[in-house]
Amino acid sequence: MVPRYLVMLFVLLVIGCEKDSSEATKTAGPGDAKRGRRIYISNCAACHNIDPSREGSVGPAIKGSSRELVEARIMSSGYPPGYKPKRKSATMPAYPYLKSAVPDIAAFLVTNP
Ligand code: HEC
Repeated sequence: MVPRYLVMLFVLLVIGCEKDSSEATKTAGPGDAKRGRRIYISNCAACHNIDPSREGSVGPAIKGSSRELVEARIMSSGYPPGYKPKRKSATMPAYPYLKSAVPDIAAFLVTNP
């Protein structure tokens, strides 16, 4: 039987490492488009199309969206100042827990690998 404190230590180590890597993506300027694609597919593609250059079942095509636009949508379901939205509706909720993924999602929407 492995002593309980060793198990706890391992868990803490794993949590610690994950936190480090998300901090890294936050500060690492250009996002990781591959990671962005995964996050997009699991969080956004239910409404937007799997292919962001096409209309989705609920949301519009969003290929090429800027980082500012993605951030405004995810943090407050708003828009950057002066931006003219594609739709007047207010259907999309905010997803503030995806804050650290904003650069990655934006990178995916621009490069679309
Ligand atoms: C529940 C359905 C739904 C989900 C999930 C969703 N969206 Fe949306 N999205 C919409 C709708 C509908 C609009 C049009 C404006 C509105 O009604 O809110 C929109 C608008 C947008 C726009 C602005 C388009 C423009 O140029 O005017 C962006 C960018 C966007 N979504 C990105 C995302 C991202 C990134 C995710 C995943 C984190 C996401 N959306 C998840 C439904 C959704």
